[in-house]
Amino acid sequence: TTESISAIREQVRAWRKKGETVAFVPTMGNLHQGHLTLVKEARERADHVVASIFVNPMQFGQNEDLDAYPRTLADDQHALIEAGVELLFTPTPAIIYPKGMDAQTFVEVPLISTQLCGESRPGHFRGVATIVCKLFNIVQPDLAVFGQKDFQQLLVIKTMVEDLSMPIEIIGVDTIREPSGLAMSSRNGYLSPAQKQQAAVLKQTLDSMALALQAGQNDDEVIRAAQKSIVDAGFKHDYLDIRSAKTFSKVFEENDRERVILLAAYMGNVRLIDNITVKLN
Ligand code: PAJ
Repeated sequence: TTESISAIREQVRAWRKKGETVAFVPTMGNLHQGHLTLVKEARERADHVVASIFVNPMQFGQNEDLDAYPRTLADDQHALIEAGVELLFTPTPAIIYPKGMDAQTFVEVPLISTQLCGESRPGHFRGVATIVCKLFNIVQPDLAVFGQKDFQQLLVIKTMVEDLSMPIEIIGVDTIREPSGLAMSSRNGYLSPAQKQQAAVLKQTLDSMALALQAGQNDDEVIRAAQKSIVDAGFKHDYLDIRSAKTFSKVFEENDRERVILLAAYMGNVRLIDNITVKLN
């Protein structure tokens, strides 16, 4: 474990000099089985795995949970070593943003970043793209692994890598879930056991939406019915939408049969997101 940029660079350079490949898994810590599945995927695809833990202030809004975000470094370190991470980068905000965040060059992927999560969280994806770009420049991995749980984030990163010609392969991993279907998330820790049970309705709703779409029901009707079941279960609605999984558009090209259903909803103050992809016949 190191907070030093040069120590990371030195180790990665030594590996690459020997012709060995490096996979990278960026996280904000408070690790669960979802994160560890990314590490497992990384191990299978490269000779060495580098991970990072950094709660990135730039991607949190004014009224969000930056200060409350769970920090569990000792447990995380242990779990990562166990999972096969050889090098762990845990920088402080001062190391990442020595000039402060306002004096910072940033990376923006505007089209995707102003919709859905980007609309509810202005500036969020700019913060994500900027930190991931910085981390890529620090680690210089051959490939990096991200979760489909944050579908829109994965799309922002894939777009950034393509548009800026970054020589890094981006791998997406399926969402890991609790037995109830609830997508694993560090923010689930904010929920009471009863709320967690209620939150299982999100995945149930996504599944029934998928069935309805496959049965040929109209998108708007499917969305309206689903919104009702989410609100009835005690959630406050944020967004619920059906997009092309390929283009992220709401308008579907003739032969485009792959959809992604995405939602965000509040249980009390806790904002949860989830999504599933569906192939139509
Ligand atoms: P964090 O929320 O810690 O997530 C780190 C990685 O784990 C992301 O790629 C996320 O998609 C993945 N992940 C989270 N829950 C998952 C689940 N249930 N199943 C599969 N993968 C899951 O996402 C971030 O941190 C930050 O925005 C970051 C990319 C590190 C930039 O700061």
